[in-house]
Amino acid sequence: MSSHKKFAYPHGNVLYRKLRYHFPCIVRGEGVYLFDNEDRRYLDASGGAMVVNAGHGNTEIAHAIGEQATKLAYVSGMQFTHEPVEELARELCALAPAGLNKAFFISGGTETTEAAMKLARQYWVAKGQATKFKVISRMPSYHGNTLGAMGVSGRQHYRAVFEPLYIDHPKIPPPVCYRCPWGKTFPQCDYECAQELELAIQKADPATVAAFIAEPVLGSTGGAMVPPEQYYPRVMEICRKYDILFIADEILCGMGRTGEWFAISSYGVTPDVLLVGKGLTGGYVALSAMVTREEIVTTIRESGSEFLHAQTFANHPVACAAGLATIRYLQQNELLARCREMGELLHRELQTRLAGHPLVGDIRGRGLLAGIEFVQDKTTRASFPRAWRIVELIAATALAHGLVVWSNVGHVDGKDGDLILLAPPFIVTVEQIQEIVNTLARVLDIVVDEIQHKRGWTHS
Ligand SMILES: Cc1ncc(COP(=O)(O)O)c(C=O)c1O
Repeated sequence: MSSHKKFAYPHGNVLYRKLRYHFPCIVRGEGVYLFDNEDRRYLDASGGAMVVNAGHGNTEIAHAIGEQATKLAYVSGMQFTHEPVEELARELCALAPAGLNKAFFISGGTETTEAAMKLARQYWVAKGQATKFKVISRMPSYHGNTLGAMGVSGRQHYRAVFEPLYIDHPKIPPPVCYRCPWGKTFPQCDYECAQELELAIQKADPATVAAFIAEPVLGSTGGAMVPPEQYYPRVMEICRKYDILFIADEILCGMGRTGEWFAISSYGVTPDVLLVGKGLTGGYVALSAMVTREEIVTTIRESGSEFLHAQTFANHPVACAAGLATIRYLQQNELLARCREMGELLHRELQTRLAGHPLVGDIRGRGLLAGIEFVQDKTTRASFPRAWRIVELIAATALAHGLVVWSNVGHVDGKDGDLILLAPPFIVTVEQIQEIVNTLARVLDIVVDEIQHKRGWTHS
């Protein structure tokens, strides 16, 4: 263990992602709790980055990983196949919407976005439509952080500095009813948000558009916004009309997080490509998957090509064993039903305790994925000035009270907008849900006091 006690820039040799932050050093995890090297306890109410679904310290998943590492740690996916990848593909495809039956495993969500963009491009080239390459997405959105993925991601503060390096793709507004860009109210709006996809396709020229990528339930950048029920059926109709693939990015909202294996299933839609990550191994090992239709793969094969996306750690045996163990653990312990039940409780408690709080503009989500948007005026829904760093204050105060939440900024206009996500492990108990909501209520009161004193803020 490092001799230095301060886990922050400029100490030590880690290049920390945050250069102005003191990192608590976590030494162990148990259930929904984390413990640091000073034996402070934290309730992990965001499951890290919305990852930990089976809980920390799960010995069944850990043993499956150890056993596989002992048996076979690595072979190249270019040379061999093996049981863990074959079984995981079979079990994952059985859970995916019917018709998605070919799975490709890599290490992280961003990589699956890249793989899906390439798959879509290869498919249209194989079909003799080589002019198709654009991938329409939404703003805001998040699909990853490499240069390809950044071109379809709508997170302004990540993008700006790198703009010369990537190809930007067309963006449309998201289906966020709380901040409807057309000022409409559902259901009188007739889904202008979906119609916008058709306009964007026409503007870009349908002959150049390969795919549309979207998160079925908007994750960190949309604060767990659940689109209304006809949104995805309409999107799918439009995609079919113009020969465009629909890529459902379920990196964050998939693997049971919303109470079903995949959030898109509740819309009765089968996407052409499904992206899975985060909860696929519950955080035990880095693993992600791109799942698609056989016809797409067959078309590429019959054109004489291979799927051109080799990565050294594709189909990694140990990671696949972790994925299998996680899926089986969730199934054997009926944790999706528990996610639905505890999710209902979480949303009920949040509504009862926090909806009337002066800082809270909106509470949304599904299952054990909840988003809370903070506003300075509940009537106009005006957001706080970014310089006030409201959500940073909320997250830091929560952490000081032993509660881990996920914060995000910029969803309103690329700069302003404060929200947090709650995504506790599915094993969370009734008492722990109450602990989350009670602590959050206390934290928000402290933050109100602070901004009243420091900023002279008075609420509406
Ligand atoms: C919806 C979505 N897509 C893609 C990604 C990128 O995944 P990763 O960070 O594993 O590369 C994320 C990460 O937060 C995400 O939430």
